[in-house]
Amino acid sequence: MSPFPAERPRRLRRTAAIRALVRETSLAPGDLIAPLFVRSGRGVRQEIASMPGQFNLSVDEAAAEAEEAQALGIPGVILFGIPDAKDAQGSGAYDDDGVVQRATREIKKRTPGMLVLTDVCLCEYTDHGHCGVVDGEAILNDPTLALLARAAVSQAKAGADIVAPSDMMDGRVRAIRKALDGAGFDDTPILSYAVKYASAFYGPFREAAQSAPQFGDRRSHQMDPANVREALREVRLDLEEGADLVMVKPALPCLDVIRRVRERVSAPIGAYHVSGEYAMIEAAARNGWIDRDRVILESLTAIRRAGADFILTYHAKEAARLLLR
Ligand code: PBG
Repeated sequence: MSPFPAERPRRLRRTAAIRALVRETSLAPGDLIAPLFVRSGRGVRQEIASMPGQFNLSVDEAAAEAEEAQALGIPGVILFGIPDAKDAQGSGAYDDDGVVQRATREIKKRTPGMLVLTDVCLCEYTDHGHCGVVDGEAILNDPTLALLARAAVSQAKAGADIVAPSDMMDGRVRAIRKALDGAGFDDTPILSYAVKYASAFYGPFREAAQSAPQFGDRRSHQMDPANVREALREVRLDLEEGADLVMVKPALPCLDVIRRVRERVSAPIGAYHVSGEYAMIEAAARNGWIDRDRVILESLTAIRRAGADFILTYHAKEAARLLLR
């Protein structure tokens, strides 16, 4: 027996006011973190070809971006560095005078209330483009841990509010926690990219950060997109090792993963709406094939509905403008 006509779901969709009253998922500028790519120089804003509207920024310009983001109600930025020189050990990652360290100091000086998150990985700093130390074609796990820990401590010293390891080496959260505590940064939280898939959606990022691997790929450390039980294992391990917050990446291809993690743990969950997701929306919008504004808000709302507490997205400023309108 159909409950119609007693039940009419359309009653609750009749006006904007009713729809707002019964809306189950909220999206606000306060949920968003803006990624920034930082390089050397002054007054530099180099547009990234595959990410129109996103730039490689010198430290002064990155600080200006952070100010703009703050004015829009965005609580934080996450920094990625493009060093002048790369080497086999990725030493730019743990250089106290590196671009990310300098940008962190400048942003904390100009906008002290703005959260500065820093990406902890070697791939932007190694000449071979891999996330760790290599031996031939192999990416070595344990020898990489000390370097990641050094990078995290160097970033914390520069004033980073949260460090975010994205390398996917086993045991990195524990190594970083230990090093931070040893250096007096026991109050600095770790946001672990706990569930990071070996995804083709990172393509434009690798152009932006000039971090494409020179040989091989990242499948020996990043996860197989076919797996979700493994995602829960990664989350459990990272929380046991001392992660304070966990992240799932990419976002839209992983809504089910975000949901599964949400149901399993009480830790805050972030989702990374990555470069390829941004590029697809921008490209289709440029062709007039989709309504850009609505697709942006629908995408971010879906990620929140899946269970993410906050979202790292290149659309942060744009979404904040749309939400404040
Ligand atoms: C690695 C890192 C990557 C991204 C964030 N951190 C690239 C990779 O793993 O190849 C991708 C982010 C994006 O695509 O927007 N440091």
